[in-house]
Amino acid sequence: MFESPLNCSILKRARDKGLAEIHVHNLRDYTINKHRKVDDYPFGGEAGMVMGIQPIDACISALKAERDYDEVIFMTPDGARFDQPMANSLSLLNNIIILCGHYKGIDYRVREHFITREISIGDYVLTGGELPALCVTDALVRLIPGVIGDEQSALSDSFQDNLLAPPVYTRPAEYNGWRVPDILLSGHEAKIAEWRYEQALERTRRLRPDLLDEE
Ligand code: ADE
Repeated sequence: MFESPLNCSILKRARDKGLAEIHVHNLRDYTINKHRKVDDYPFGGEAGMVMGIQPIDACISALKAERDYDEVIFMTPDGARFDQPMANSLSLLNNIIILCGHYKGIDYRVREHFITREISIGDYVLTGGELPALCVTDALVRLIPGVIGDEQSALSDSFQDNLLAPPVYTRPAEYNGWRVPDILLSGHEAKIAEWRYEQALERTRRLRPDLLDEE
């Protein structure tokens, strides 16, 4: 589940350049039972299995013995909603652990005693925390200086200033009779910047008016 996203594109480049170190740990490797089971039946008889505290404690403790961690994050749909400001502040941290669980499926003592922050990527339930953890990882790593070739490009992403990004175009200037806006071909930098800002504002008003209320 992690192999391909962590070894493509920006995440691969960041790792190859030594700008980000990402390790994936299998909780099964930290079990002490014969069958390497990480879950068990819930007390009280609810449906489904619950991930137990022992392998999680063993894994987190082993990692903490090697280095200090700024946050131990648990991915869960009832966590705080992930957004760009949260990505920005998390990208400044040195070391983080991201624990992937299953909704309803993790012994609550883990959350009470090991977790420093709970994050949701949106109000929908996925099968596990793996895809959410990859989303958070990608959003953080691309903000690390040097990861994205053009330093400006992470800053001009949608949401960095509570505005959606303006439209972008590339060659050909005309395709099927559909023309790129003339202003972009004018070479007039100040006017182009003004056009981009107006477009960003217009798209935000139309598509995400809630972002403008937040200011
Ligand atoms: N695990 C399952 N669904 C999730 C979500 N929406 N956000 C974070 N972790 C999750």
